[in-house]
Amino acid sequence: MNDDLPFLDLNEDRKLVFVSFGGENMHLPEGANLAAALLGTGVLTFRNSAISGAPRGPFCMMGACYDCRVKVAGETVQACMTIVRAGMVVEQADG
Ligand code: FES
Repeated sequence: MNDDLPFLDLNEDRKLVFVSFGGENMHLPEGANLAAALLGTGVLTFRNSAISGAPRGPFCMMGACYDCRVKVAGETVQACMTIVRAGMVVEQADG
């Protein structure tokens, strides 16, 4: 878990690594907060509500709301509690 302020990670001079999100290739800063890095590329929908179908994205950025859920290599995780690693395959979470 990364306890640093998530958006400050994006300002650091980090190596960019390949990450796939929903089949789209992107380069994100290695070791940065995944939710912050995805938001920084313009990704706003991390999943859709199972009840209403409404788009959901990060809200609290501290592991409390679970609105940032995504799948990494098929496992559901909280993007705001996950760091960017080279070669990650990320997809929208179910519901
Ligand atoms: S943004 Fe709330 S748990 Fe990740």
